[in-house]
Amino acid sequence: MQSQPRVVIIGAGVGGLSLAIALKSRFGFRNFTIYEKADEVGGCWRANTYPGCSSDVEIHWYSLSSDLNPNWNKSHGLQPEIQDYWISLAKKYGLYPHLVFDTKVISAEWNDDQSSYTIIAEEVLTGKRITDTAQIVISAVGILEIPRIPYEIPGIETFKGISFHSAAWPRGLDLRHKRVAVIGNASSGYLTNAQFVPYLAADPSVYVVNFIRTPVWFNTRPHIPYSDTAKWAFANIPFMMRLHRAYIMYKFDSPLLWPQSAAARERHRRALRQYILDSTPSKYHDDLIPTHPPGCKRTVADSGYIKSLSLPNVALNFDGIVHIAENGILTKKGEELPFDIIVYATGFIGDKYPVHVKGLNGTTVQGYYDAHGGPTGYLGTAIPGIPNFYMLAGPNTGTSTSTLFVEEVQVSYALQLVKPVLDGLVSAFTVKADATDAYNAKLQERLSRSVHMQCYSWQRSGGGTGKIFNPFPWAVTIWWWWLRRPNWAHYTAMGGDKWVRRRAMHKMFGVFKVFAFALLSVAYVRRSALLPLLYERLRELGKTIF
Ligand SMILES: Cc1cc2nc3c(=O)[nH]c(=O)nc-3n(C[C@H](O)[C@H](O)[C@H](O)COP(=O)(O)OP(=O)(O)OC[C@H]3O[C@@H](n4cnc5c(N)ncnc54)[C@H](O)[C@@H]3O)c2cc1C
Ligand SMILES: NC(=O)c1ccc[n+]([C@@H]2O[C@H](COP(=O)([O-])OP(=O)(O)OC[C@H]3O[C@@H](n4cnc5c(N)ncnc54)[C@H](OP(=O)(O)O)[C@@H]3O)[C@@H](O)[C@H]2O)c1
Ligand SMILES: *[C@@H]1O[C@H](CO)[C@@H](O)[C@H](O)[C@H]1NC(C)=O
Ligand SMILES: *[C@@H]1O[C@H](CO)[C@@H](O)[C@H](O)[C@H]1NC(C)=O
Ligand SMILES: *[C@@H]1O[C@H](CO)[C@@H](O)[C@H](O)[C@H]1NC(C)=O
Repeated sequence: MQSQPRVVIIGAGVGGLSLAIALKSRFGFRNFTIYEKADEVGGCWRANTYPGCSSDVEIHWYSLSSDLNPNWNKSHGLQPEIQDYWISLAKKYGLYPHLVFDTKVISAEWNDDQSSYTIIAEEVLTGKRITDTAQIVISAVGILEIPRIPYEIPGIETFKGISFHSAAWPRGLDLRHKRVAVIGNASSGYLTNAQFVPYLAADPSVYVVNFIRTPVWFNTRPHIPYSDTAKWAFANIPFMMRLHRAYIMYKFDSPLLWPQSAAARERHRRALRQYILDSTPSKYHDDLIPTHPPGCKRTVADSGYIKSLSLPNVALNFDGIVHIAENGILTKKGEELPFDIIVYATGFIGDKYPVHVKGLNGTTVQGYYDAHGGPTGYLGTAIPGIPNFYMLAGPNTGTSTSTLFVEEVQVSYALQLVKPVLDGLVSAFTVKADATDAYNAKLQERLSRSVHMQCYSWQRSGGGTGKIFNPFPWAVTIWWWWLRRPNWAHYTAMGGDKWVRRRAMHKMFGVFKVFAFALLSVAYVRRSALLPLLYERLRELGKTIF
């Protein structure tokens, strides 16, 4: 007898954990391993411990749908709370025995004759290599995961003070009486520094200079505490918490569901402009108003940043950096500014796939990306030529709403493709190239008419001006609708005689259902005429027999 199929998950962030939880709770399936290169679960919530790190999406909407939490303290979760939440879920679902920490997956290569992947992973601490085999590989490696350090700035390696990326905040770092440079030319480096600058600035002995390349738009997003009554209602009134989630979802989705007129967009832009003008020192106004339209770069959730810009110990600097020296930064204006600490809030490398995954005929994930001008996939989940391989948060899955929802939809979708393999009905599914091309043509056509075209950003390949590989340009309601079940015609089933027969039966049953329904409808409409006729026929039949 063939042994039970195995699943390997790469990455124990919220995506990998959601998938593992679904595998266990929906299918009772246990033959899986999660490889994680770090020493704990949580992914970006484990890595990003900078002061003030929090969700910029309301936390009830950024919680796992099967495990809502009535006790969230505020509208937005703080990093330690979110991290605790995921650790508690990993414990609740008994995931720790499936987790292999400090182990980085290097490669996964498909063997056609065995219909399985050979996976090679490396123990990070010892360099020792281990080999594993699995029929199915799920990639949950994240995209905001590999810190982007701006090595292009001359002299960066000569700095003698303390310097680090925002995703590697040193534990217990003492900032008192320090001069801190924050380099983040905008957006979420902006998102990130918009979260920690107010925290640093709360100590008047710290002096913060924030270097900005491209300004961004801000939404005011204060963190609103939930009262005990609200928490009680969430816990005790049926559907209350679900309704609250639905409301948040709708709030994020409605601008995309009901496209706005040019006039409405202009009003929105003016309101955002006014917010900056009203709340920041006038010396910054010329530089702080973006020239690109809202939505091109991620609109930053402002939970205190804008206000902190008026503090005497915070300065913005738009001059541009010429080079970094031993003890500071030289700007294009010729100023030499001394610093003790430099924080690189310069974002992540998003357009390189970090694992060597090889499918049929030598197709690799990165090779496929390169051949298509940047990250490209089918519904951000599958890649032609790579069997039984599904990605969470793959190409063009970026939205401004809950990434967790986007990933949970992918989990449900991918598991429908995984199930027939676990059941031994089929050995592999591979997405078809023509279906992938058609999807991407539609996607890129929509993107070409979107705001994403109107600025340079990390969401575009080729150094920021090429193919737009990260955003999903429609509402997530549409995402959910498209992924609610696979279009089986878009996949090739391999080694699937049983599967083909079952699908054929299913189709026949479908045809039968339509036929029966049509017959009954006709019978119903013409029942006055039909029934006597039937009676007549039966009587005749009776007569001939007896
Ligand atoms: C500071 C910050 C705040 C954010 N806030 C929000 C928010 O409020 N709302 C929102 O919707 N999104 C937010 N995001 C986006 C966030 O990335 C996603 O919401 C989500 O956490 C992605 O989860 P993930 O599991 O897909 O990836 P990640 O969290 O990046 O996890 C990937 C995991 O895979 C591991 N890994 C990678 N490569 C390998 C390998 N080769 N072998 C083994 N393990 C590997 C990594 O170590 C990591 O643990 C934020 C991102 C950042 C950086
Ligand atoms: N709480 C949250 O919700 C949260 C927090 C953080 C991050 N995120 C997510 O993470 C994503 C990435 O966030 P991020 O803020 O870390 O990165 P980011 O959005 O990529 O921003 C990087 C910043 O660094 C600047 N930069 C890059 N190279 C530079 C250089 N050589 N000199 C000066 N500035 C340079 C960029 O400027 P330009 O704009 O000019 O390129 C940009 O301002 C976001 O889109 C978001 O989805 C979410
Ligand atoms: C709410 O805050 C309290 C006190 O800081 C903390 O102990 C608790 O864990 C928080 N709740 C959640 C859900 O994070
Ligand atoms: C900011 O971005 C511009 C344009 O990409 C670049 O020329 C400049 O050097 C950057 N500034 C800093 C501070 O690096
Ligand atoms: C792989 O190559 C074989 C033979 O060269 C060919 O028959 C098959 O169609 C190819 N498969 C893909 C997915 O390209």
